[in-house]
Amino acid sequence: MSLCCWFILVALISTTSSKNPGVKVKLTQKGIEYGRQLGMASIQQKLKTIKIPDMSGKQRVSPIGKVKYSLSNIQIVNVGLPESGVTLVPGTGVRLSIGNANLSLRGRWRVKYFRIIKDRGSFDLSVTGLSISPSIAVKSDERGRPAVSAVNCAATVSSVRVKFHGGASWLYNLFKKFINRALQKTVQKQMCPLVANAISDLNPQLKTLNVLAKVDKHAEIEYSMVASPTVTKSSLDLSLKGEFYKIGGHQEPPFSPVAFSLPPQINNMLYMGMSSFTVNSAGFVYNRAGVLTLSITDDMIPKISPVRLSTRTFGTFIPEISRRFPGLLVKLQVKTVKDPVVTFEPNNATIQATGSVTAFAIQPNSTLTPLFVLNLDTSVSTKLFVSGMRLAGAVSLNKMALTLGTSYVGKFEVSSLSSILSVVLRLVVIPQVNVQLAKGYPLPAIGKMKLVNTQVQVLKDYMLIGTDVQFAS
Ligand SMILES: *[C@@H]1O[C@H](CO)[C@@H](O)[C@H](O)[C@H]1NC(C)=O
Ligand SMILES: *[C@@H]1O[C@H](CO)[C@@H](O)[C@H](O)[C@H]1NC(C)=O
Ligand SMILES: *[C@@H]1O[C@H](CO)[C@@H](O)[C@H](O)[C@H]1NC(C)=O
Repeated sequence: MSLCCWFILVALISTTSSKNPGVKVKLTQKGIEYGRQLGMASIQQKLKTIKIPDMSGKQRVSPIGKVKYSLSNIQIVNVGLPESGVTLVPGTGVRLSIGNANLSLRGRWRVKYFRIIKDRGSFDLSVTGLSISPSIAVKSDERGRPAVSAVNCAATVSSVRVKFHGGASWLYNLFKKFINRALQKTVQKQMCPLVANAISDLNPQLKTLNVLAKVDKHAEIEYSMVASPTVTKSSLDLSLKGEFYKIGGHQEPPFSPVAFSLPPQINNMLYMGMSSFTVNSAGFVYNRAGVLTLSITDDMIPKISPVRLSTRTFGTFIPEISRRFPGLLVKLQVKTVKDPVVTFEPNNATIQATGSVTAFAIQPNSTLTPLFVLNLDTSVSTKLFVSGMRLAGAVSLNKMALTLGTSYVGKFEVSSLSSILSVVLRLVVIPQVNVQLAKGYPLPAIGKMKLVNTQVQVLKDYMLIGTDVQFAS
């Protein structure tokens, strides 16, 4: 292969393999709709801050002549938003449409005419047939968190009606049309900026996405977006990195995510696909951190078990042990020697772990004398579940295979130890692993998000969490 082709190949590999997300998140129309409900409350609050400046001027009114007037202290009484909807616009974002909205306001009026006659009173203002339709673009910010902004907003007001109360209100009715038009313009001009404001007010919330979530003292998981969000007719899709790292020492594992696509399910608000890459990056980090290890002593074996960790038990199968180390307890050191590997197949999450088991006789002076080292290959079935905002699991033993690593006690038949090791795995190792797995790791989350109606499915190469969401207010 020539140098030039080699460079092209390297470039292809690095661009295609590094960009696949480990985690995909799909927000369905139902999820967007829930977002609309939350958003409308904030838009309503914003519209309540419409400021109508005082208006004053002179108007010629026949047969009176010149009238000086002023409208002041105009306050919002109510904002009605009876109709709104959201639609996904493929390739662009989300279009929000607010229709038939209304505002009611109240203020004070004053007039002066014939040079000396003054009068004052109050007025009610009703603005109806308001419509506002901003498009919302969703992008990735500099740290890979979603960010929204309003683009292409249009606003119209179909009618403004003023009703004057008190003294010379008859007078106003003579030039009401003029005032109506001025007010209509003022209101119309403010709506889009206020709605745009309400939309960008979502960004502090979106910035709470846990782009780097601490798992425990060893690991953190990165959830930053690896590409801009995409919008289709039925969903808004985010591609997140979904990779475990050692805290304080990020190192890429020797494998990368494979492409996967979420199924076209739409019943829940949100779907999250966690690839086997994500889980395997955890295996990589923890194995490297040297924490996938466990020392097992006899006191950890439940009392009811007839199998005891003693030279007597092992001596039954390996006579040299009872001959050289009579009446001693045995300690087992179990540890992984390779990164454990998870495989997701439909309805089947299996972890393969390759480890070693070293047996020691515990001398009366506490010295550990090695007896033998076994190679242990295990396959465990994994059940995955969501607990709070964490993904947790529980494993059970499928298969176990033993081979001899080193013996310090002569030749022996390794298979004769299977039943002892199987008891140790089932009664001690698996329960301890499950205590750790039950703690789970954090899922991507925004603000005070809670998951409800959650189901977990295992599919080819990834697991799928379908869920509805609630935000604590
Ligand atoms: C304003 O909207 C509310 C609903 O949000 C509705 O009940 C009310 O009748 C409307 N008022 C006018 C004057 O249209
Ligand atoms: C699950 O998949 C593993 C291989 O990944 C296989 O060995 C095992 O038999 C499967 N279990 C079931 C119940 O299909
Ligand atoms: C502990 O006892 C063993 C066996 O009796 C002996 O070989 C070893 O030297 C002792 N170690 C210490 C530190 O006393």
